[in-house]
Amino acid sequence: MCKQEKKKYRAGILGATGTVGQKFIVMMEDHPWFEVTCVAASPRSAGKSYAESVAGRWMQETPVPDPVRNLSVMEVEKDRQAIAEGVDFVFSALSLDKARVREIEEQYAEAGVPVVSNNSAHRWTDDVPILMPEINPHHLELIHIQRKKRGWKRGCIVVKPNCSIQSYVPVLDAWKRFEPKNVIVSTYQAISGAGKTFETWPEMEDNVIPFIGGEEKKSEDEPLRVWGTIRDGKIEPARLPVISATCIRVPVTDGHMVSANVSLGKKAGRQELIDAVRNYRSPLAERKLPSAPDPFMKYFDEEDRPQTRLDRDFENGMGITVGRLREDTVLDWRFVALSHNTLRGAAGGSVLTAELLADRGLLD
Ligand SMILES: NC(=O)c1ccc[n+]([C@@H]2O[C@H](COP(=O)([O-])OP(=O)(O)OC[C@H]3O[C@@H](n4cnc5c(N)ncnc54)[C@H](OP(=O)(O)O)[C@@H]3O)[C@@H](O)[C@H]2O)c1
Repeated sequence: MCKQEKKKYRAGILGATGTVGQKFIVMMEDHPWFEVTCVAASPRSAGKSYAESVAGRWMQETPVPDPVRNLSVMEVEKDRQAIAEGVDFVFSALSLDKARVREIEEQYAEAGVPVVSNNSAHRWTDDVPILMPEINPHHLELIHIQRKKRGWKRGCIVVKPNCSIQSYVPVLDAWKRFEPKNVIVSTYQAISGAGKTFETWPEMEDNVIPFIGGEEKKSEDEPLRVWGTIRDGKIEPARLPVISATCIRVPVTDGHMVSANVSLGKKAGRQELIDAVRNYRSPLAERKLPSAPDPFMKYFDEEDRPQTRLDRDFENGMGITVGRLREDTVLDWRFVALSHNTLRGAAGGSVLTAELLADRGLLD
């Protein structure tokens, strides 16, 4: 059964027992606006208490928070109606085949539940916004179109883009007036991005794997949708910059680093580019959303920063760190950047998106 509380928005988590689901649980612990009232997962976990269902696979540094320990895990598909009645919105952190996730998320929206999804299933659905809250909050306009078109009164679907793009997209956005044209990016991605730890993936110790299935296409295409324009009720992806990505798994627990080389349509000086990162003002800045980092980005003058272990938790894992801006020998400029993959890149990005929905009255 869902726990009933009225004071805060009631949040459900679909896929609450997984890597991202657990992060949601931790992030919701002291959230000023949201409270977890429903946890749901597969039939394997259903019926157990949340604490029992994650016993032996709890990957967080803090213990399972008291308010959710004894919540009974519900079954995502079978208990949909009961879950819909017990929440104001859900986070989706399901790991299932895409067609099934699409269907499940649509069924929840149909049942009147706003869905904020981490899954890639709906990232290319015409009327579904793919949101980086600081960068394209105006795409929320699509929710009204989505609701009208599908006959959903209160339900809707909003998705978060892939974790790999979270650091270089903000930097390129800060440089928009210099017109980034071509970008070559290499990502160095943490093992938690695959839902793993060194215990569950010992082959990653002392190893680098130069392949992450499907990741390069997402890293190249999804930014263009984030920078897209809404036309005729759907997002028309931007055409520039052209991005070429190589995605590599490296032996770190959390934190995706990128190295990027960029050509610009308009000339810019080094200091101008650094200032553009340091002075980046997101349209969200005035709203003071609880999980929004302030500042959003930090540029380091030190030559050996950002570093994964030192800097991934900048602004509670929600901020982006940038450094090593220097002239490129082939394109114009090169830099490195870092983002936390399970916070900014997964649960945290979705929590911030839900806060934006709440701020816009879209959860009411
Ligand atoms: N890990 C990351 O850093 C990251 C970053 C960005 C996006 N994502 C995306 O977020 C999603 C979740 O990733 P994850 O790493 O958290 O996956 P995960 O650890 O494998 O967790 C998957 C969750 O889905 C549930 N599930 C599996 N089969 C189900 C079924 N038949 N019916 C209902 N629930 C079912 C599992 O429940 P049981 O425990 O009961 O099996 C579990 O709660 C994926 O789409 C992933 O691509 C992950």
